[in-house]
Amino acid sequence: MRAVAAITESNQKPFIRKMSAEDLLPIVAIERQATPSPWSAVQFEQSLEQHRCLVMAADNDTNLILGYAIVSTLLDQAEVLNICINPEYQGRGYGSRLLTDLLKQLPDSIEVVYLEVRVSNFRAIHLYHNLGFIEVGQRRDYYPTEFGREDAILMNLQRSTD
Ligand SMILES: CC(C)(COP(=O)(O)OP(=O)(O)OC[C@H]1O[C@@H](n2cnc3c(N)ncnc32)[C@H](O)[C@@H]1OP(=O)(O)O)[C@@H](O)C(=O)NCCC(=O)NCCS
Repeated sequence: MRAVAAITESNQKPFIRKMSAEDLLPIVAIERQATPSPWSAVQFEQSLEQHRCLVMAADNDTNLILGYAIVSTLLDQAEVLNICINPEYQGRGYGSRLLTDLLKQLPDSIEVVYLEVRVSNFRAIHLYHNLGFIEVGQRRDYYPTEFGREDAILMNLQRSTD
């Protein structure tokens, strides 16, 4: 009982807002903890100017960043360039919520959403399948790893027009 209570208490009610320059310091720190090939601060700064950048924060503590996502759009296509949940808060449905909101916020003109994911990233692949993404290809040896290279899976989501 005690363990369950501890997990419930540490769950945060999230809200999603636009990313700002003030968010970048904690985001870069989360990125370094969470991913094997972290984006640099400069990459995030460039994305702030060029892409749609969202932050999921805790509604009782807006400085607590639960996750973030970055998507580019061009004509009728979008690409999820980065999505990440703070490692302390992974596996609690926040990634699913963030990606669902991101997809809802895309303009109606977007017909297809692309993304790439490491073949070993089972949690992310499961999440993308849940939200309707399908595998459309692979890129061989696309990502660096500790031991060499690994393939990327290319996925896309066709948005319904109704
Ligand atoms: C991938 C990521 C965004 C997912 O966010 P999350 O909040 O941890 O995921 P959620 O809790 O919303 O959902 C994950 C789903 O994967 C499932 N899952 C968890 N671990 C899993 C595993 N090892 N294998 C398969 N599925 C798994 C969960 O059960 C859940 O599915 P369900 O809703 O059917 O039960 C997050 O883990 C993350 O930031 N990882 C590091 C960065 C990263 O890999 N980004 C994606 C790059 S493409």
